[in-house]
Amino acid sequence: MPNPDSRVTIHMVASLDGFIARRDGRVEWLQTSDEFAGGETLDPASVEAFLRTIDCYVMGSRTYETALRFESKGFGWSYGDKPTFVLTTRNLPRNRDTVEFHAGDLAQFVNERLRPAYRSIWFVGGGAVSAECLRLGLADEVRYSILPVLIGDGIPFFQGLGRDIALHLLEDKAYKNGMVALRYEVRRKP
Ligand SMILES: NC(=O)c1ccc[n+]([C@@H]2O[C@H](COP(=O)([O-])OP(=O)(O)OC[C@H]3O[C@@H](n4cnc5c(N)ncnc54)[C@H](OP(=O)(O)O)[C@@H]3O)[C@@H](O)[C@H]2O)c1
Repeated sequence: MPNPDSRVTIHMVASLDGFIARRDGRVEWLQTSDEFAGGETLDPASVEAFLRTIDCYVMGSRTYETALRFESKGFGWSYGDKPTFVLTTRNLPRNRDTVEFHAGDLAQFVNERLRPAYRSIWFVGGGAVSAECLRLGLADEVRYSILPVLIGDGIPFFQGLGRDIALHLLEDKAYKNGMVALRYEVRRKP
């Protein structure tokens, strides 16, 4: 039985001009140095508490490869001990027991495998997988965190949607580091 409470959220951090990485995959520009006096502080304890509410992660293979590179450089693994599903048709190295690879029909995977088992399902990129998730009508929510930087070119947040997707703004928050976090609900067609 699908879990009626399950929620699929897409979350990424992007430049103001809508890019999630440079064309060659570099994300060093994520380290910005702005200060916005009126912003909220990102308190590590509440971030931790929030992350505990996420039940599983889904990502594309190129995002996974970036995460592996980060880990090999000593920056850690951002997905804790939560089940992490990597979409790929290739044979990639598996860095921990919580990682599982999947290929095939994404809608069937989300609706028949993930939704019955997990309440809070987070798609964490990249642009190709986010767009596929939206195109297939699988996402309930989009969280878009905008950093105070323009990078001119790169991998866009949503690649080739092919149609308009209407959204409803649920929340906006500005932080001391100049980041603006927007949370939207995907509006279903009546
Ligand atoms: N700023 C941020 O918050 C953020 C977040 C995440 C990622 N990123 C960056 O974004 C870049 C990656 O984004 P991207 O758009 O290039 O790639 P991506 O979405 O991470 O991965 C795309 C790949 O996933 C596999 N895939 C996608 N859908 C599939 C499906 N239904 N079934 C099986 N496999 C599927 C395919 O690869 P195969 O050839 O393996 O089948 C596809 O080429 C990286 O540079 C990463 O660092 C940034």
